[in-house]
Amino acid sequence: MKKTFDRTTFTLEERFKKIGLHKTYFIRTYGCQANVRDTETIAGILEAMGFTLASSQEEADFLLFNTCAVRRSAEEHVLGEIGKLKQLKLDHPGKVFGLCGCMAQEEGVVEEIKQKYPQVDIIFGTHNLSNLPSILHEYYEQESPLIKVESTPGNIVEDLPTVRSQSFKAFINIMYGCNKFCTYCIVPYTRGRERSREKQHILDEINAFKNQGGKEIILLGQNVNAYGKDLGEEDGFTDLLRACAETGIDRIRFYTSHPRDYSSSSIDVMKEYPNIMNSLHLPVQSGSNEVLRRMARGYTVEHYKSLFDEMKEKIPSLTFTTDIIVGFPGESDEQFEETLKLAEYCKYDLAYTFIYSPREGTPAAKMEDDIPLKVKKERLQRLNELVAKYSNENNKSYLNQELIVLCEGPSKKNKKVFSGYSEENKLVNFTGEKIQAGDFVKVKITGTKSYTLDGEKII
Ligand code: 5AD
Ligand code: SF4
Repeated sequence: MKKTFDRTTFTLEERFKKIGLHKTYFIRTYGCQANVRDTETIAGILEAMGFTLASSQEEADFLLFNTCAVRRSAEEHVLGEIGKLKQLKLDHPGKVFGLCGCMAQEEGVVEEIKQKYPQVDIIFGTHNLSNLPSILHEYYEQESPLIKVESTPGNIVEDLPTVRSQSFKAFINIMYGCNKFCTYCIVPYTRGRERSREKQHILDEINAFKNQGGKEIILLGQNVNAYGKDLGEEDGFTDLLRACAETGIDRIRFYTSHPRDYSSSSIDVMKEYPNIMNSLHLPVQSGSNEVLRRMARGYTVEHYKSLFDEMKEKIPSLTFTTDIIVGFPGESDEQFEETLKLAEYCKYDLAYTFIYSPREGTPAAKMEDDIPLKVKKERLQRLNELVAKYSNENNKSYLNQELIVLCEGPSKKNKKVFSGYSEENKLVNFTGEKIQAGDFVKVKITGTKSYTLDGEKII
């Protein structure tokens, strides 16, 4: 086994267990599922230290922003929110404000916060979550601003305490970091190189969750298809997927796949095991070979289409989602049209679409970008309209069908309506009696919208 970093186990020192007694915490989470999962770990550590959850961010003795650095807009939002806390800090100097996550790994941002946002007391990065007890201890001892950002990816730490946000659905990290270095992306710099968890630890976490009544797991990694490569495994992700399916957990999903490392065997395993859900998120980013080359994605449009065709042929009911960036430096009108053509070809169920955002330190940030923002916005709108059209059409095919929905509870908009995700990963709003969060509910689809389905529980 190739070893590139240390693997350790978390233990909370006795002296840290009382730090949070009579104190409350609140965490604001931004960005991807990796951050959502990190927040669950941070909450677990804080509760093990005696903190309890505050009813609002204003109430909290320790308020933490777990941040995302993928696009500047997300960073600006966080800085705006932190800016608003100035008065709260003046009124309650005893409150502690912290910032962690990907923004904390950016030197420029940390400098900006130090200069302009003195209300931030603690900054710590993505690599030292398990050191949170000692960081807080140090802060409460000295009560002066504390910045702890490690630039080299940390060890893989097992047995971290967790407060899961849902009791029936769990995010399970299978690997951390990314080696792909797509030229626009900051993730390899903020999250470090690919590090896979050992299979047995992953399976233990799944079995423990299942034994507590867990129903659905979502395997997480920036690039799950590369799972195990750093452990010297050839087809590690497929083997892992099979082993996860063998645990008998009701539902398995995984995010995110990369077209470059994708292996046909993983789709065969999806087909073989009914508890691996037939939905796939396969980011394409652009439909132009020239743009893909400058993004350093490592595949062509033809290769992507052949993967798509193979998957649809093997599993015709597969739902397909993607990520697309418009306005990458130098993207011509023709190259953008090629992206539209690809979206027409794949008829995605959903696409997360973004305007390119330059990230300091990435190769693309140095490329000449002469496309006016107005043009980028128009492209985004055209793409979104096309994606909505196909999503709508796909959704219509579910009319009058019966889908199995894992209920998440009352819907956000209407407490009399429940919502949850179907096996196909469609968000379904439905009515019915005697329904609880965590129930599998058979729902007949009675109406469709671009991104959601409506239905009624079948008795
Ligand atoms: N600008 C815009 N979108 C980006 N993404 C990653 N980096 C950037 C960037 N610099 C998008 C990609 C990725 C998703 C998580 O975020 O589409 O798949
Ligand atoms: Fe970023 Fe590319 Fe890695 Fe995804 S695969 S996290 S887009 S570098």
